[in-house]
Amino acid sequence: MYVCICHALNDKKVKTALSHGATTPASVFRHYECQVQCGKCVPMMRAMANDHLATPAAACVACPSQQPPHAANSDAAVPAYGIAAE
Ligand code: FES
Repeated sequence: MYVCICHALNDKKVKTALSHGATTPASVFRHYECQVQCGKCVPMMRAMANDHLATPAAACVACPSQQPPHAANSDAAVPAYGIAAE
């Protein structure tokens, strides 16, 4: 199922980003080195991120429990355009 039509991000790609440390729609976009366009996908992506965060870490075999998030998912340098998707 496509979550983001603008960037052809399906649910599998979003879950992959979440498993690599993305916690917000903006960090999912950063994981794929793109930016939010129309924003219609943000509520669904946010719900997926919240569901992922609510899942116990042990249930997510791909989540590195002790490792820092992927550099692309760091919130250190969030550009202004990404604020709405945070
Ligand atoms: S559907 Fe994701 S930015 Fe447009």
